[in-house]
Parts: sequence; structure tokens; C-alpha cells
Amino acid sequence: MSERVCPWWMGPLLLNPLRRWTVKPDRLLAPYVREGMTVLEPGPGMGFFTTVLASLVGPSGKVIAVDIQPKMMDGLRQRAVQSGFADRVETRLATRDSLQIADLVDSVDLVLAFAMVHETPSPERFFREVAATMKSGASLLLVEPAGHVRSEKFAAELEFALSAGLAIAASPAIRRSHAALLKKP
Ligand SMILES: C[S@@+](CC[C@H](N)C(=O)[O-])C[C@H]1O[C@@H](n2cnc3c(N)ncnc32)[C@H](O)[C@@H]1O
Repeated sequence: MSERVCPWWMGPLLLNPLRRWTVKPDRLLAPYVREGMTVLEPGPGMGFFTTVLASLVGPSGKVIAVDIQPKMMDGLRQRAVQSGFADRVETRLATRDSLQIADLVDSVDLVLAFAMVHETPSPERFFREVAATMKSGASLLLVEPAGHVRSEKFAAELEFALSAGLAIAASPAIRRSHAALLKKP
């Protein structure tokens, strides 16, 4: 099911301010994030959403950003420092077989998976690993680019999420995207 991983040199392009014409990170995320939350962001790239998440969780919250490419993580760390949020952003390096988040069981309030699940080698394992980190009542906002991911493929991803014990709570309208808000009962 996996496709080619977005190359690290695309990282700066994903930070392009023009992208805000399609998706406004603060407006997208504000309904889901509260101060003090622990947010998990798998596949953050160089952090288009990460600094907004860090701003919204405030000084008592944290964002755990997990990417498979060290150069994406380097860019993200630099951006977190420049934004003054380095102390709220933890970075981790995933491997092909694991997101390296087994220690986060039942501790995460919100997961943001934006344009990344289709790149993982096993979406089935992805949802299993991520669901285990979520507290009861926590949310996962899943967004996939409609240009890359066909509706059938998105539906298959949702089936894996349901198999991992999550439930579909809403289908937010996000331009040029498939999206679902999933909840852990
Ligand atoms: C298309 S980029 C999206 C980046 C960011 N979410 C955004 O929307 O700006 C996909 C990101 O997922 C990461 N990724 C791909 N496979 C991964 C995996 N198995 N584990 C963790 N990160 C992964 C890539 O390295 C890349 O940074």
C-alpha cells in the first residue's frame, strides 16, 4: 500500500506560505487543540503544522513529532527554535518498521496525521501503533491529499483505523483532501 516517501528536499516547499491559500493551519487545528494537551504528529515534515500545534498547546503542553527522515527532523527542529517553541516540541526518528512510540501508551490527547499515512509501508500497523498511544476520548485527525490518494484507498485506510479500535466521529471538509476525525472510545 505504501508509495514513495516525500523526499526531504521537498520539506521547504511544504512550508511555502502560498500553501495557506489551501489550508490555514491555525483555523484547521484550533477546534481540536486545547492548552496543556499532548499532541502526536507523525510525518510532520519540516513542521508546517507543528509550530501552530506548539502555539495552541501552550507552555504546559507538548508536541511529539515523529518522522522517518532525519533531514525533515533537522528542518523541523530549526523551525521550532526560530519560533521559540523548542521546549514544547520533542522530535523522534521513526524506522520503517516502527514509529518508536511504544512508551506513549494512553498518553496522547490528539494525533495529527496530515498527508502521510499513504507513505507508510503498513497503514494497518500505523493505526495500531497510534491508537495505542491515544487516551480514551482522544482524537485523530486524518487528512490525505485527494490528488494522490484515491477515495477507495482512503476508505481502506479508514477500515484499518476502525480495526485498530477507533471510530469515525466526523468528516471535516478540507479543500483538496479526504479527511476524517477519528475517536478512541
Ligand atoms: C507529504 S509529507 C507531509 C508533511 C507534513 N505532514 C505536511 O503536511 O506538511 C509526508 C511526511 O511523512 C513522512 N513519513 C513517511 N513515511 C513515514 C513513516 N513510516 N514514519 C514516519 N514518517 C513518515 C515523510 O518523511 C514526510 O516528512
